[in-house]
Amino acid sequence: MISGQDLRSRRLDVGISQFQFARRAGVSSAVVSAWELDKAYPKPPVARAVLTALSALEAAKREGTYAAPRKRSSGSSRARRATPVNDPASVARRAVAAAGSGAPTVLTAFSGCGGMAEGFRMAGFSVEGYIEVVPEARATFDRNFPGARCLGDDIRAIDEARVKDLLAQVDIDVLAGGPPCQGFSLAGRRDRDDPRNHLFRNLLELADLVKPKVVVMENVRLLLSMKDPDGGMVVDRILGEMAARGYDASVNTVNAQDYGVPQFRERVFIVATRSDSGIGPLRFPPKTHGVNGVAPLRTFRDATVDLAPLESGQACETDPLHWAVEHPEHVLRWLRDVPEGMSAHDNEDPAMRPSSGYNTTYKRLRWDEPASTVGTTFGMISASRNVHPKHTRSLTVREAARLQTFPDDYVFEGKWGAVRTMIGNAVPPQLASVLAGEIKKALG
Ligand SMILES: C[S@@+](CC[C@H](N)C(=O)[O-])C[C@H]1O[C@@H](n2cnc3c(N)ncnc32)[C@H](O)[C@@H]1O
Repeated sequence: MISGQDLRSRRLDVGISQFQFARRAGVSSAVVSAWELDKAYPKPPVARAVLTALSALEAAKREGTYAAPRKRSSGSSRARRATPVNDPASVARRAVAAAGSGAPTVLTAFSGCGGMAEGFRMAGFSVEGYIEVVPEARATFDRNFPGARCLGDDIRAIDEARVKDLLAQVDIDVLAGGPPCQGFSLAGRRDRDDPRNHLFRNLLELADLVKPKVVVMENVRLLLSMKDPDGGMVVDRILGEMAARGYDASVNTVNAQDYGVPQFRERVFIVATRSDSGIGPLRFPPKTHGVNGVAPLRTFRDATVDLAPLESGQACETDPLHWAVEHPEHVLRWLRDVPEGMSAHDNEDPAMRPSSGYNTTYKRLRWDEPASTVGTTFGMISASRNVHPKHTRSLTVREAARLQTFPDDYVFEGKWGAVRTMIGNAVPPQLASVLAGEIKKALG
C-alpha cells in the first residue's frame, strides 16, 4: 500500500482533482482526502478501488489516451463564452443587423448586463447608449453592444454634456430601465424609506433631457403594493410624475412564461408614451404561450436538454459557463432520492432533512414545466428551488442564462458571483423583445 503523500503526488502527476479522482474511483472525496492527509487508511476493497483507478489513469497517460479534465476556473475576470466558442463576430453581426438605417433607437438605464437591451436588439432596435453603475455589468454591456455609448455610471450624477452629445447625433425613440427593486421586494428588506425606491425619479429626469417617445420601466410585481412614506401607492406616484411630464402610461403585469420564456417570472412593465408623439397608449400584447396562447409553455427540458449532463463538481469540457458547484456529501445524500418538484425537507427520515428552513429550499425543479424564477442565488443548492430536476446539484451559469433566454454567444464579464447577479437581475431578452416588437410597430 502507498502513503497518502505518494497517492497525492501520483494523482497530481496525472493532473486530476481530488473530486474528479474520487468519482472515477467510485468513492467519496472525503475518502481520498483523508488518505492523502494520512488521517485515515481506507478498508482494503476501497483502497483497491482507489489504486486501480490511479493505475488506469497512469497507464492511459503513458499511452497518450488520457486528457486531464479541464480545471474549473474559480473566478478570474476573463470573458466567459460558450458554444460556438469565441465567436466575437456573431456579437458584432447582431449589432450591425439591428443598426441598419432607419432602425428605431433605444437608450437603457440601470442596464445591468443588457437583458432588456438584448431584447430590443432582437426586435430590430439600435442600442445607442446605456447607464450602469457596476463595472462588471458595464464591461459585459460593452462586449455585447460595441456600438453603444456609456453615458455614465451612477444615474444620480449624469454628465448632461455626454447625453447632449449623443442626442446631437441621433434621436432616441425609447428610454428603458429597470431601477433596482430590492427596496420594494419581499425578497429584500421592504423598507419604504430605502433610497433605492427613489431611483425611478432619476430615470424620469433623464427622460426630461432625452425626450423619448416611449419610456419603459420594469420592476418586480410587488412594486404594485409598495407604499411611499406618505402612505400613497408608489405606482400612483410614478404614474403621476409621468403624467406631469406629458406621458400616458399603462401598467402591465406579465409572467415571462406566457411569452416563450422557460421560466415563471412575474414582472411589472410601465409603458409610457409621450402624448405629443402621435403614438397611442401601448400595452403588452396578448400571451403567446400557455393555455390562452398559441404555443405550449416552454419548459426546463426545452431550454437545457442538449447541455452536457453534470453532477455536483463536474464541468463541461466545451462550455466554460456549464460547470456545477461541488456540494457537501451530506447535502447530496439528503437530495439524491428526492423526486422532481419535492424538497429535501419532504424526506420522511428526519436524519435526511436539513435542520431548518422552508420546503421551497433544497427543492428540485421539474423537467416538463417552466423553471421557477431565476434569482441571483441559483448556484446555491440551499436557496429556493435551484436543484436540477435530474442531477443532484444547483443550476449552472449556462442553465440560468438559457432559462433567461440569453443567446449562447452572449459574453459575460467578471467573476462568477458578479455574473450570477447580472443574469439573475436581467429582464429575459425574449420577454423584452415581445414588448419592443410592439413598440416598434407603434413607432411605424
Ligand atoms: C434589476 S437590474 C437591471 C437589469 C437590466 N434591466 C437587464 O435587463 O439586464 C438593476 C441595475 O441597476 C444598476 N444600478 C443600481 N443603482 C444604480 C445607479 N444609481 N445608477 C445606475 N445604475 C444603477 C444595478 O447595478 C443593476 O445592474
